Amino acid sequence: MGNFFPRWTNWLPLKVAIAVVFIALGVSVGVAYYFTPKYTRVGYEPTQPVPFSHKIHAGQLGLDCRYCHSFGEASSHSNVPTNQTCFNCHGPGKGNIKSASPKLELVVKAHETGESIPWVKVHKAPDYVYFNHSAHLNRGISCVSCHGKINEMEVVRHDQPQSMGWCLDCHRNPEKNLRPLEHVTNLNFQPADLKRADFYKGLLDKKIPAGEIATVIGGESAKADDLDQLLKLAETTYGKEVTQAEVGTQLKKHWQIQPPENCTACHR
Ligand code: HEC
Ligand code: HEC
Ligand code: HEC
Ligand code: HEC
Ligand code: HEC
Repeated sequence: MGNFFPRWTNWLPLKVAIAVVFIALGVSVGVAYYFTPKYTRVGYEPTQPVPFSHKIHAGQLGLDCRYCHSFGEASSHSNVPTNQTCFNCHGPGKGNIKSASPKLELVVKAHETGESIPWVKVHKAPDYVYFNHSAHLNRGISCVSCHGKINEMEVVRHDQPQSMGWCLDCHRNPEKNLRPLEHVTNLNFQPADLKRADFYKGLLDKKIPAGEIATVIGGESAKADDLDQLLKLAETTYGKEVTQAEVGTQLKKHWQIQPPENCTACHR
C-alpha cells in the first residue's frame, strides 16, 4: 500500500495548530471587545477622606472644572488638585471659609503638616491603554460625555463604562458629542442654547465657504451663498432649534475630526 497520504500531510498538524492559534487570538480579541465589562465599574463611588462636593463647588459656586483640574500636559499622573487650591478659600488665615467645620478638619490639618489629602481614585484606565485628556478637550469633547453630570454629584461616581467598546462607539460617531470649544466645561450645555445665526456666522468667519456648509446640511445638491440662505436651509432640515446632529456634523467636517480606530493608537 505504501504511503497513503502524500508527504505534505506531515505538516498538517502544524498547520492546524497555527490556524487554531490565530483563530483563538482572533476570537479572544473579539470576546475582549464584545464582552468587555461594560457596566461593572459604573456606579463605583468610593468614600473620600474629605466630604468634598462637586455639587457645591462646580454646581452652586460655578467654579470652572479647570480651576482645579488642569490637563495642560499629557500627564498620566493624577490631576486632582493640590491642597493649595483648597487653601485659596478654606486656608486658615486666607479665605477662612468654614475653616472651623469638622468637615474641613483634614484640609486644615494638611495646611499645618503639608501632607496631601489621600483622595481615592475613581477612574483608572489600565496601564496598557494610552489616554490623553487634552486631545479630547481641545477637539470639542466635554467632560460630561465621559464623566456624566459631575456638577450635580455630591460624591463622584463612575458614570460611564470607559471600556474599549465605549471608546470606539464615540470614535466611530464623534458627531454625537462634538460641541464648540467654549462649552467643553459647561456640563449643562444643550445645542438648543446656541443661536443658529451665531453658529453659522462663526463658521463663515473662519472662511469656510457657504456652499460647503450647505452640503453638510443638505447633501451634494444643497446650495447656499450667504448666511440667510444657510439659515433657511438649516431650519427646513433641522427645525426651529439647533440640534446636536447639526452642530456635530459641521464641526466634524470643518475641524477634520477623525478619531483613531487602529489598535496602536490606544495600545502603544
Ligand atoms: C474646587 C475644586 C474642584 C472643582 C472646581 C472641580 N473638581 Fe473635580 N475633583 C476635585 C477633587 C478634590 C477631587 C477628588 C475627590 C473626589 O473625587 O471628590 C475631584 C475629583 C474629580 C473626578 C474623579 C477623579 C478620579 O479619581 O477619577 C472627576 C471625574 C472630576 N473631579 C471632574 C470634575 C469636573 C467635570 C468638574 C467641572 C464640572 C470638576 N471636577 C470641578 C476638585 C474639584
Ligand atoms: C473658590 C473658593 C473655594 C475653593 C477653591 C474650595 N472651596 Fe470648599 N467651599 C467653598 C464654599 C463657598 C463652601 C460653602 C460654604 C457654605 O456652605 O456656606 C465650601 C464648602 C466646602 C465643604 C463643606 C463644609 C461644610 O462644613 O459644610 C468642604 C468639605 C469643602 N468645601 C472642601 C473643599 C476642598 C477639599 C477644596 C479643594 C479641593 C475646596 N473646598 C476648595 C469655597 C471653596
Ligand atoms: C473622552 C473621555 C473623557 C473626557 C472628555 C474627560 N475625561 Fe476625565 N477621564 C477619562 C478617562 C478614560 C480617565 C481615566 C484616565 C487614566 O486612568 O489615565 C479620566 C480620569 C479623570 C480624572 C482622574 C485623574 C486622572 O487624570 O487620572 C479626573 C480628575 C478627570 N478625568 C477629570 C475630567 C475633567 C475635569 C474633564 C473635562 C474638563 C474630563 N475629565 C474630560 C475620560 C475623559
Ligand atoms: C465622546 C467621544 C469620545 C470618547 C468616549 C473617547 N474618545 Fe478618543 N477621541 C475623540 C475625538 C473627537 C478625538 C479627536 C480626533 C481628532 O483629533 O481628529 C479623539 C482622539 C483620541 C486619540 C488620538 C489623539 C491622541 O491622544 O493621540 C486617542 C489615542 C484616543 N482618542 C483614545 C481614547 C480612549 C482610550 C478612549 C476611552 C478610554 C477614548 N478615546 C474615548 C472622541 C472620544
Ligand atoms: C479608542 C481606543 C482603543 C482602540 C482603538 C483599541 N482599544 Fe483595545 N482597549 C481600549 C481600552 C480603553 C481598553 C480597556 C478596557 C477596560 O478597561 O475595560 C482596551 C482593552 C483591550 C484588551 C483587553 C481586554 C480586556 O477586557 O481585558 C485587548 C485584548 C485589546 N484592547 C485589544 C485591542 C485590539 C486588537 C485593537 C485593534 C483592533 C484595539 N484593542 C483597539 C481602547 C482601545
